[in-house]
Amino acid sequence: QHQQDRFRPGYHFSPPSHWLNDPNGLVYYEGVYHLFYQHHPHGNQWGPMHWGHAVSSDLIHWEHMPIALFPDEHGAIFSGCCVVDWNNSSGLFEGSHGLVAIFTHADSCPKTGQPRQRQSLAYSDDQGRTWHKYKGNPVLAEEDLIDFRDSKAFWHPQSERWVMVLVAGDHVRFYGSKNLREWTLIGQFGKEEGSHDGVWECPDLFELPIDDSGRSKWVLIVSIGDRPDCPEGSRTQYFIGEFDGNTFINDNPADHVMWLDYGRDNYAGVTWSDIPAQDGRRVMIGWMSNWKYANQTPTGEWRGAMTLPRALSLTSRDEGIVLTQLPVREIEQLRKESKSWNMLTVTPEVPYTLKTEDDLLEIEADIDIRSAGEVLIKLQSAGEIETIIGYDPVSQWLFIDRTKSGITDFHPSFGCQHGVRLVPENGTIRLQIWLDRNAVEVYANAGLVVLTDQIFPDAPMDRMEISVKSGEAQLSSLHLHALKSIHV
Ligand code: FRU
Repeated sequence: QHQQDRFRPGYHFSPPSHWLNDPNGLVYYEGVYHLFYQHHPHGNQWGPMHWGHAVSSDLIHWEHMPIALFPDEHGAIFSGCCVVDWNNSSGLFEGSHGLVAIFTHADSCPKTGQPRQRQSLAYSDDQGRTWHKYKGNPVLAEEDLIDFRDSKAFWHPQSERWVMVLVAGDHVRFYGSKNLREWTLIGQFGKEEGSHDGVWECPDLFELPIDDSGRSKWVLIVSIGDRPDCPEGSRTQYFIGEFDGNTFINDNPADHVMWLDYGRDNYAGVTWSDIPAQDGRRVMIGWMSNWKYANQTPTGEWRGAMTLPRALSLTSRDEGIVLTQLPVREIEQLRKESKSWNMLTVTPEVPYTLKTEDDLLEIEADIDIRSAGEVLIKLQSAGEIETIIGYDPVSQWLFIDRTKSGITDFHPSFGCQHGVRLVPENGTIRLQIWLDRNAVEVYANAGLVVLTDQIFPDAPMDRMEISVKSGEAQLSSLHLHALKSIHV
């Protein structure tokens, strides 16, 4: 096996070849989920951006489509969104409906030579197979802004117009439009709010119910770019509050920061537009990499993958309203063989070891930690390679240690350990872990916290060890599912 194939994910989305970054244009239309993505089809590093394209009927199995958008006289095609123009508000569909992509054109200003970012449209009347750039491009420009990108739009019924959120360096801006072609500034948010540890990128805005209380809140997603002095690199924050039709109003104090993911590899995530109301889900997917080292990962000819698609919910906790995430239920169809255990006791003398025989795994573990010291779940190869998912009951700290996870030396900050506070519920922590050939995703306590990390194990990870440093850990239940690959 070529090394580059070894890291080809079994069930995470990856490009057929060459470079991938942000998910773009996520839209559900006529039974099909569309996934577009930032793509450089002539190299395995970031370069002149195109929109790659794939389609799926279940969010898990993807069919690669021809490149949807190529650079043109207005520049490269940066991130953006797609919406279904159901009522032909744009006038682009001759009485019917179709898909409109709103994306960022990136070039440089002929006068100043400075980078320039403007919003443009493309449309498709054949279910996304062929795309036409709108003749009046660009449709939105702000001469005084260098960073002005990553448009995400939705229909806002209360104000009977389209609303678009995009980033302008250190804040988001809201624009309104009746026809997707003419946009007016209606609001701004964020200069003094949340984290500014990097330039703001890839926003999203949507409403979600809070548990089953009958109430709802708006969620504003904002990714922040890498900065050399931040070891975390690029990451994604979210805000909870209200959208009044013009702007976002934060429920939390301005300095309160909430992170979407406590791993290192979930960036630029946005959600699918137009999932039917009967389904009711808000599904997000992120780019499973980090600008800190994205151009150096050891995959070879192709580079970059997406996280698992996740259904988002809001839940009310003592600390306030927070976002929870779990992989979409469609992932369950990948289970090919399952084993279960009840009431396993692990002590320092007697760890639980298992030859899993498989390197595509889903693990569900309910661990009673009331009498336990540090608990470690090690996903291992026959040799020295291991990725550790650990929990320290004293500091209530859940972590991933990927210092020995395989190839780590392509960047000094890749081989690291990082985590998040996790409070047990009734003395128990619940872990749901997905292991792939290039990644591990850990969801704790029903998706209350998530850690998504790339790993590059250069030998099959087909064993597992569950151990405890002192005391004893009770696994009230453990399920292990070997998973099928999505590549047939
Ligand atoms: C985020 C980002 C976006 C931009 C795109 C360019 O990762 O920097 O802000 O539109 O990537 O590829």
